[in-house]
Amino acid sequence: MNYDKLIENAINARSFAYVPYSKFQVGAAVLTEDDKIYTGCNIENASYGATNCAERTAIFKAVSEGHKVIKAIAIIGDLSTHTNPCGICRQVISEFAQSGDIPIILIKNKEDFIIKTLDEMLPGSFTKKDLEL
Ligand code: THU
Repeated sequence: MNYDKLIENAINARSFAYVPYSKFQVGAAVLTEDDKIYTGCNIENASYGATNCAERTAIFKAVSEGHKVIKAIAIIGDLSTHTNPCGICRQVISEFAQSGDIPIILIKNKEDFIIKTLDEMLPGSFTKKDLEL
């Protein structure tokens, strides 16, 4: 699978980050089951806790337009490293991931990215199965 287009979309989304407080820009792009791409950036708030991460912006855009199954996500934060998704975003990725082996693509730049699976990044996760008592 070639993730170039997804990666380019994440890099582009990063430029829209609204980050007057942290100045830390993040971009994300998700690939849905039917091969559509939704992008997101982080959106901060003067009430810091109201901030939305880039990954959740992208996922919520996809879900709110009827695409509930995600088969890959690409993320770019600091340009000098492979920024990891936060715990809340890992949980949200897990809610809509097609399976535990979907790729989470951590981008430094277009040519330098690493791929981990959701299971690697969020082992033993709490899912809807845990609610089926
Ligand atoms: N941030 C993300 O957008 N995604 C993550 O997974 C980690 C953190 C954002 C939130 C905040 O705007 C900034 O990065 C610094 O925490």
